[in-house]
Amino acid sequence: MSKDIIIEHAVKRYGNLTIIPDLSAQIRNSELFTLLGPSGCGKTTLLRMIAGFNSIEGGTISFSGQVINKIPAHKRNIGMVFQDYAIFPHLTVEQNIRYGLKEHKVPKPEADARVESIMKLTKIDIYRDRLPENLSGGQQQRVALARAIAIHPDVLLMDEPLCNLDAKLRVEMRGVIRDIQKEIGITTVYVTHDQEEALAISDRIAVMNRGEIQQIASPHTIYTRPYNLFVADFIGHSGFAYAQLKGKGPVRTLDFGNGYSVEMDNIKADAPEGRVIVGIRPEEFCVSKDPSRGFKSHISKSTYLGKYVIYFVDIKGVECPKGEDDAEDVFEISQDLGTATSLLKVGDDVSFEVYPHKINVFDAASGVSLIEGTSHEE
Ligand SMILES: Nc1ncnc2c1ncn2[C@@H]1O[C@H](COP(=O)(O)OP(=O)(O)OP(=O)(O)O)[C@@H](O)[C@H]1O
Ligand SMILES: [Mg+2]
Repeated sequence: MSKDIIIEHAVKRYGNLTIIPDLSAQIRNSELFTLLGPSGCGKTTLLRMIAGFNSIEGGTISFSGQVINKIPAHKRNIGMVFQDYAIFPHLTVEQNIRYGLKEHKVPKPEADARVESIMKLTKIDIYRDRLPENLSGGQQQRVALARAIAIHPDVLLMDEPLCNLDAKLRVEMRGVIRDIQKEIGITTVYVTHDQEEALAISDRIAVMNRGEIQQIASPHTIYTRPYNLFVADFIGHSGFAYAQLKGKGPVRTLDFGNGYSVEMDNIKADAPEGRVIVGIRPEEFCVSKDPSRGFKSHISKSTYLGKYVIYFVDIKGVECPKGEDDAEDVFEISQDLGTATSLLKVGDDVSFEVYPHKINVFDAASGVSLIEGTSHEE
């Protein structure tokens, strides 16, 4: 039976080193919950704590109300697909799947039925008598997934299960994982450092950095309304500029200090006037209808990507965070070739405006979003 996972104030230490200082998260029953973050941020560490392979130095982890801190890994009824959790090379596909059922003492008729239905679900029934060495990487991962879910685990844990596959197969297999997870409705914690993969498959994503959760939200919210500068920078290709937030009341002014300003009607009521950092994604710019308005920009480079073009532009007169590196002053602007009426060229001087309802505004000191309705967790 699928269960929810409640993590409260979890702490992980290796000797004097604190990897996870104080982490809380509520993973809902049946959801596909992804831990996403840069290498070394503690994703595998946290997953292994849930699995019972890592000790927990503080706080609690519960499955549907039962604290599992002291329950050994093999009694937690967990299904696992880890990058290095290989299927048995000397057993056939069918024997691999049957293996866990024997361990769990599932009676033979029930086991037969389960093996059949899971091989069909994961589309590996035609390879049932093959050894893993005679399967492709994607087929092997299907076997690993089939074996993990055959035991009817309470939760499914997956650590970078697709990272050894080529790009096209990764995209195919993430769809397979998503479909199967939805079909059987099992609570799943999925670890990846690939943001596109996380956005594509998750119900909710926890973005982690240095052992701390930065934001928990749906892929759409994580992308469009990052809670802080770390999330805004880690996900997608935001450019950042300093601005002054001016005025009080429902409509405020963002003044970029280069003659361009925009009116904002979605800033938190208690946001003080002063210096802010504005995050702007490539698709949040548009060419100004009136060239005297907007960011005066110079297109220095472009990359053609088929469906759209990315322009690298220098914006005149804006001050950018991390300004010591010249590259940080270059903004990416995208043009959708499906709708664009005229193309821009390298060397062009163009004025761009931003869509005020799409850009994100952060407190310059704390890095926390000042957009109304944004929250750490949803
Ligand atoms: N057994 C250990 N002893 C000491 N430090 C460890 C141990 N295992 C992991 N760490 C440290 O804990 C931190 C988090 O590691 P972890 O493997 O959880 O990162 P990750 O987010 O999974 O990264 P990646 O995306 O590279 O897999 C790292 O700094 C790592 O060096
Ligand atoms: Mg890892």
